[in-house]
Amino acid sequence: NRTITAVVAGATTATLLLAACGPGFADGEGRPLRIALNQSEAHPSYIALDHLGEALAETTEGYDTDIYPNETLGAQAEALQLVSDGSVDMAVVSGPQLENLNPDFVVFNLPRVFDDVEHQMRVIHDPEITGDLFSSLEERNNITVLGGFTQGARSVYTDEPIETPADLAGKQIRVQESDLQLAMARALGGIGTPLAYGELYTGLQSGVVDAAENNEVSYFTQRHFEVAPYWSYTNHLVGLDYIIINSDLLASMTPADREAFDAAFTAAHEEHTQLWAEATQEAIEGATAGGATFSEVDDAAFAEPLEAMADTFITTDSQRALYDAARAAAQP
Ligand code: GCU
Repeated sequence: NRTITAVVAGATTATLLLAACGPGFADGEGRPLRIALNQSEAHPSYIALDHLGEALAETTEGYDTDIYPNETLGAQAEALQLVSDGSVDMAVVSGPQLENLNPDFVVFNLPRVFDDVEHQMRVIHDPEITGDLFSSLEERNNITVLGGFTQGARSVYTDEPIETPADLAGKQIRVQESDLQLAMARALGGIGTPLAYGELYTGLQSGVVDAAENNEVSYFTQRHFEVAPYWSYTNHLVGLDYIIINSDLLASMTPADREAFDAAFTAAHEEHTQLWAEATQEAIEGATAGGATFSEVDDAAFAEPLEAMADTFITTDSQRALYDAARAAAQP
C-alpha cells in the first residue's frame, strides 16, 4: 500500500495538472525533474537544486531540474503525497513531515540532538547511520530520501524579546505539523499551533499566532521580521530538510545516469552547506536593516525542558540506536 493516508487538500489539482507528463522520456526530449519547494528563489535550497539541474543537463542523457518554489504545488504535506504517487518527482520536506511515515525520523527532529550544523552534516553523510532510515519509505511509500539539507539552528521570534520560557507563557507559537513539535512549543513555554509554512506571515500579521520559530534564512526570506521583529536565540534545535525522490523514477535511470545523478547530488549537497553559512549572515544583516532585533536568552532555563524531550519521544530500540549513533558523532 503506497498511499499516504493523511487527507491532502489541494493535491488533486496539482496531480491533474502534472499527470500528463508521467515518467520516462518522449522521443528526443529531455526529462526535467519536477521539484516541489516551499521556499523562494533566494533560498539556498532553490539555488543548490537549480545548480543540480545544470550539472544533470551536462552529465546525463537529458535530465534537468524544474523547481516549483513558494508552495506552487502545495505545502509540504501535499508535496509528500505528490512525490509518493509520482505526479511530482522530487520535493524538499522538513523532518517533522516524515515522522508519521516512520517514527525513526523523530530522532533527528529532537531538540538538542545535533550540537551544530557540522555535527548534523557528519551524521547525515554517514551511510552507516542513515542508510536504513533513508531507504525505509521505499516499499510502502515509493519515496527515497536522497539526503538532508541543513536548516541551521532554529530560534523563537515574536513581538518582544524572550529570555526564559516564562516569557512565552500564553503565547501561541506556530509549529510544523507533528506531535513532537507541539511538545516542543510547551517545552519552550508556550502553546503550539500547527500551520503550513506559507500561511505563517499572514498568521503572525493577523494574530492567529503570536510567535514562530525558524532559522534566520527563513525569517528574512519570508519577511517574517516585518511582523515579529524580536528574534531571541533559543537555538532549540538544528533542523533538517530531506530531499525526497520518487523511488520508481530513481530505479528507472540507466546505471550511467544514476552514477552521474549521485555525483551531481553530492556536489549540490556540499554547495548547500556552504551557501547556508553565507545566507545566514546575510539574513541577519538584512533583517536588522529592516528593523529586527536579535537578542540572547537564558540558555540554562531552556536547556532542561528541551533536553527532557528525548526521554519522552525515544520509545523504541531503533530510535535509541539512531539517537546514540548521532550523539556519538558529536565533538568530545
Ligand atoms: C524551514 C525549513 C522548511 C520548513 C520550514 C517550516 O524553512 O527549511 O522546510 O517547511 O522551516 O518551519 O515549516
